[in-house]
Amino acid sequence: MSVPPPIAMLAELTHRCPLSCPYCSNPVQLERKETELGTEAWTDVFQQAHAMGVLQLHLSGGEPASRRDLEDLTEAAAGIGLYTNLITSGIGLTPRRLDRLEAVGLDHVQLSLQGTTAKLADRIGGYRGGFDRKMAIAKEISARGIPLTLNAVMHRQNLDDLDRTIEMAVELGARRLEVACVQFHGWAMSNRAALLPTRQQTMAVKQTVAGAAQRLQGVLAFDFVPPDYYADYPKACMGGWGSSGLNVTPNGTVLPCHAAQTIPHLAFENVREKPLLDIWRASSAFNAYRGTEWLPEPCKSCERKETDFGGCRCQALALAGDAGVTDPICKKSPKHKEVVKVLLERRFEEDQTLLHRSF
Ligand code: SF4
Ligand code: FES
Repeated sequence: MSVPPPIAMLAELTHRCPLSCPYCSNPVQLERKETELGTEAWTDVFQQAHAMGVLQLHLSGGEPASRRDLEDLTEAAAGIGLYTNLITSGIGLTPRRLDRLEAVGLDHVQLSLQGTTAKLADRIGGYRGGFDRKMAIAKEISARGIPLTLNAVMHRQNLDDLDRTIEMAVELGARRLEVACVQFHGWAMSNRAALLPTRQQTMAVKQTVAGAAQRLQGVLAFDFVPPDYYADYPKACMGGWGSSGLNVTPNGTVLPCHAAQTIPHLAFENVREKPLLDIWRASSAFNAYRGTEWLPEPCKSCERKETDFGGCRCQALALAGDAGVTDPICKKSPKHKEVVKVLLERRFEEDQTLLHRSF
C-alpha cells in the first residue's frame, strides 16, 4: 500500500512534570528521565520527520520545559523549517527562557488551563501556586506577540465555569481557545467517575461554545472537543490511524496515537533501532488499523467509514475489550447500549475523588 507522509508529529520530550493532572494523556506507566532521548537523538528525529514530509512539530510532555535543552531542541526544529508548537503548563518557563525560545523561532504556544481560580486549578493540577505562575507567563507570552492558544481541559468539575474560561482567554490575549472535554484514556480512565460530565453540562457546553464562537468572531477562534460518551458517532481519532500524525515517546518509541500502548497485541518500534520512515510505512503497529480495509461490520458497509474510520481503537478496547471492533460510542455499534448507555445511567455526581498521576 502506498502510504502518504504524516503532517504532524507529537514529540513527548519527557514525562516529567511538576503538575499531576488526573486526566493526563501520558500512559499510566510513565517513562523515567534516564530513558529519555538526548538532544542529539531528538534533533535527528526532527530531521527525519522533516525529510519524510512532517510540517508541524508539537513539543510536548509531561512538561517540555522540564528539559533544560528545550531551547536547543526548538532551535534545531525551527532551523530546518518545522512549524513548532510548544504544549506547556507554563511551569518552568521564565521571561528569559521565553526570550530565547522566541529568538530561536518558536512559532506558537499552547498553554493548558486547569481551572479559572487558583483554588480549583491548583487542586486539579496538584500543584500549589501553579495558577498564579501560569497567569504571569501567559501575559509574558502575549506581550511578546507569540501566538497563544489556551487549552482548557473541561470535565464535570469545571464545565460550569466555561463562560469565565472564555472571558479569561480573551483577557489573556489568546487567539484560540481549545475547549477540550476530557477523553477517557490513561489517567483519565482511572478518574472517569469523578470527571464524566453530566448530560445537562454536555448540552450546555455545546450551546455556550456555539454562541461564543459567533460573538467573538475575529477575536477568539474556538476548537471544540465535545464529550465523547454523549455523541451519536465517534470522532476520527488521529484523523484515522496512521494517516496524518504520529507520536514519539520520551524514550523514542513511535506510536500511532498517545494511548496505543494500551492495545496489548501491538508491538511498537523505536527510533533508536529503525528509521522513522520505515516505522511509519511498514511497522505492523501502524498498519494494523490503517485505512478502511480492516474495518469490521457495521463500519464496512457504513457511509461514514471514510469520515471516522470506525472511531477510536483505544476506546474500542477500553469499552468493548477489543481494539478491532466498531467504537462503542457509535450508535450503530452492537455494544453501544450495553456499554455506553448503561454507563451514562450510573450516578457519578457525588464522586469527586481524584487520583493524581505520579511515577
Ligand atoms: Fe463510523 Fe463505523 Fe459507526 Fe459507521 S458504523 S458511523 S463507520 S463507527
Ligand atoms: Fe488510540 Fe484513539 S487514542 S486510536
